[in-house]
Amino acid sequence: MRARTAVAEIQAYELMAVLRRDFLRLDLNESNWGCSPAVLAAMANPAMDILSFYPDYRDLEQEVERVYGLTPDRVLFSNGADDGIRAVMQTFVDPGEKVVLAQPSFGMIDLHARVMGAQIVPVPYQSDLIFPVAGFRKAAEGRPRLIGIVRPDSPCGGVISREDLEGILAAAPDSLVMLDETYTQFLGESCLDLLRRFPNLIVLQSFSKALGLAGVRLGMVAAAPELVTQMRKVNPPFAVNGLAARAGAAGLKDPEYLSRVVAGVQNEKSWLGAQLENLGIAVRTSPANFVLAAFGARAGEVHRGLLERGILVKNLDKIPVLKGCFRIAVAPREQGERLVTALKEIRGRL
Ligand SMILES: Cc1ncc(COP(=O)(O)O)c(C=O)c1O
Repeated sequence: MRARTAVAEIQAYELMAVLRRDFLRLDLNESNWGCSPAVLAAMANPAMDILSFYPDYRDLEQEVERVYGLTPDRVLFSNGADDGIRAVMQTFVDPGEKVVLAQPSFGMIDLHARVMGAQIVPVPYQSDLIFPVAGFRKAAEGRPRLIGIVRPDSPCGGVISREDLEGILAAAPDSLVMLDETYTQFLGESCLDLLRRFPNLIVLQSFSKALGLAGVRLGMVAAAPELVTQMRKVNPPFAVNGLAARAGAAGLKDPEYLSRVVAGVQNEKSWLGAQLENLGIAVRTSPANFVLAAFGARAGEVHRGLLERGILVKNLDKIPVLKGCFRIAVAPREQGERLVTALKEIRGRL
């Protein structure tokens, strides 16, 4: 049976064929730092209430209001930021409308825009990997339906400045600006406060990275109440499951844990960067929880060598501006050492 034309033309997100839990997983920017003990305690004995009844989001809403100052009418919970992207595209983008996106950037934004039949307006990164703000300004003049910006971006690591973001929001009042802040805790600065000034802004947050809850699938979309009301029409009323809501609320109650993870990531990022440079590998550390490492023409061979040693990294070799590069999530020291040891062995053989 045929799928919708837009869907038939899309390439599916490729899941790895290996059982990932047997590997050192540095490929998807998850948290190898685990999650807060407060979350583990909250999940240890889920009350029947949570398992047998449709979920109640009151606790999570309260925590979100306390931590972010967002009232429930400004928030839509989602199955990870991924699903928030889907909800935004499905609610606001008609077939043929323009969606402006950096190239490369997080693939699910492009995918969900294409599912809706959007016309993608790509803004390419140059080899300096600096966020291509001039291209965004220019594309914004074409009155697109939506401008998608990831801050900090993945995989390139670019960061649009607050002033530049405000400039685009002000210059394109009829375009929605969807700001993906999945890695915002590592940057140490969020633009959620801009929601009060710009009714065309939508901000996505994820519980997967700094909060270490990728497995429970929880994210949120924050926007003006009028926009959230529209998105609620599209979303199932209980899209987020009760266990995820409970884990998320517990995670937000432990800011010390979050601070420790963020500090640990920054520390290990510097360490890993230095180790790789010592091996003669060019490195670009991102403001997020990953580094980019350039292996040039040996990328394929090194990637295979790491796989053989049970280590997963993201091979970006097929992306022209990142040719020969891997994206590597920053993990605690012991795991970083395992990676560096493996790279030394592989280098010895090449
Ligand atoms: C920029 C960006 N947005 C969203 C996501 C997905 O986040 P979630 O796990 O909350 O769906 C990722 C995952 O890597 C990402 O890199």
